[in-house]
Amino acid sequence: MPQSIFWKLQEDILKQNDFKNLTNFIKTTKRFTQFTKVREFETEFAKWQGCKYCVYVNSGSSANLLLINAWKTLKNWSNQDEIIVPAVTWSTNIAPVIQNNLIPVFVDVNLNDLSFNYEQLENSITPKTKAIFITHLLGFPADINKIKKIIGNRDIIILEDCCESQGAQIGGIKVGNFGDGSAFSFYWGHHMTTVEGGMICTNDENFYKMLLLKRSHGLARELPKKYHKEIKKLYPDIDFRFLFLTDGFNVRNTELHAVIGLAQLKKIDSFIQARNENYKLFLDICSNYDDLILIKSEGMSAFVFQFIFKNKKKKEEFQKFIAENGIESRPLISGNLLRQPFLKKYYDSTRFKKADFLHTNAFYIGNNQFVNKDRMNLLDSLMKRFFGKK
Ligand SMILES: Cc1ncc(COP(=O)(O)O)c(C=O)c1O
Repeated sequence: MPQSIFWKLQEDILKQNDFKNLTNFIKTTKRFTQFTKVREFETEFAKWQGCKYCVYVNSGSSANLLLINAWKTLKNWSNQDEIIVPAVTWSTNIAPVIQNNLIPVFVDVNLNDLSFNYEQLENSITPKTKAIFITHLLGFPADINKIKKIIGNRDIIILEDCCESQGAQIGGIKVGNFGDGSAFSFYWGHHMTTVEGGMICTNDENFYKMLLLKRSHGLARELPKKYHKEIKKLYPDIDFRFLFLTDGFNVRNTELHAVIGLAQLKKIDSFIQARNENYKLFLDICSNYDDLILIKSEGMSAFVFQFIFKNKKKKEEFQKFIAENGIESRPLISGNLLRQPFLKKYYDSTRFKKADFLHTNAFYIGNNQFVNKDRMNLLDSLMKRFFGKK
């Protein structure tokens, strides 16, 4: 009889003091829609991240959507222009490319940092390539310096999906600061949470202004006050309160979620530290088994514990074994994305060998600040049992 799940992907991350904080806010405000708390959260996040501008939205998926849509508008990209993306990432890293009438050009992944196969990346660039949309997968920073070298002086922008890698670093600089815009997710299971939520970071002022418009219907009044006078002069026949400068969405988030975010941000460094310490123990445990491929990285911000088996059957047996022992697991993100129904109709998934390998040979279990030494010892003993080690 399988044990009920006790090791979940994420635990009850919000505590009594978070609820108290939220209740106090509710009692003392009359404004719940995007306002000063959202701005405060953006300012604090920008300080933490080390970037100039932040735009808070309602999910990491919305952050990705605005990254693509706002750059398409700003740079006047044509339909059918190309965006290079990895074959292993989350579905909503790809969806906005398609939804914006651009072509996702898929590149296989590598098993060292789980980012692009860099040689294939280089060969995938064409005169139509407008952006390389990097995913820093599972907390491992992609080799951006290599990617920048590959781009050279071509007019190709870099976008970073940091939804799984908040706080990961390259040479002491946080990922999300290396390109022309980056996306973060604060969904429940991520490094920090606002329950639902996402952030876009950039150092580019024009892009920031476009993001503000796109987030909120295209409304001019969303721009910082210093621009209002000048814009009003350009459109004297339109009431500034309902002046739409571009086509937009409504992907705003609320004051309540920002209040949660502000409290979480104070703890994020300790969350990341706990995840990374757990990951070190995980590597120690796993290093006893030749069956596994281990991924280590200097500046990582551990997201989960991924098991990558050399042998597919062993992986299936082990995943079943840990489920029977009360541990929740998931595929390695979307596996080979090209196998998924929404993409299968366009692409031959078998061309992406490493993505396909991860599809069949890998899965992950939860790593977070609630995973303690006892849990790691339990994992150790379960693995010893499974692999028949003393
Ligand atoms: C790499 C990556 N990008 C984007 C997202 C989307 O974030 P959200 O769930 O906040 O929409 C996720 C979600 O897990 C993700 O892992």
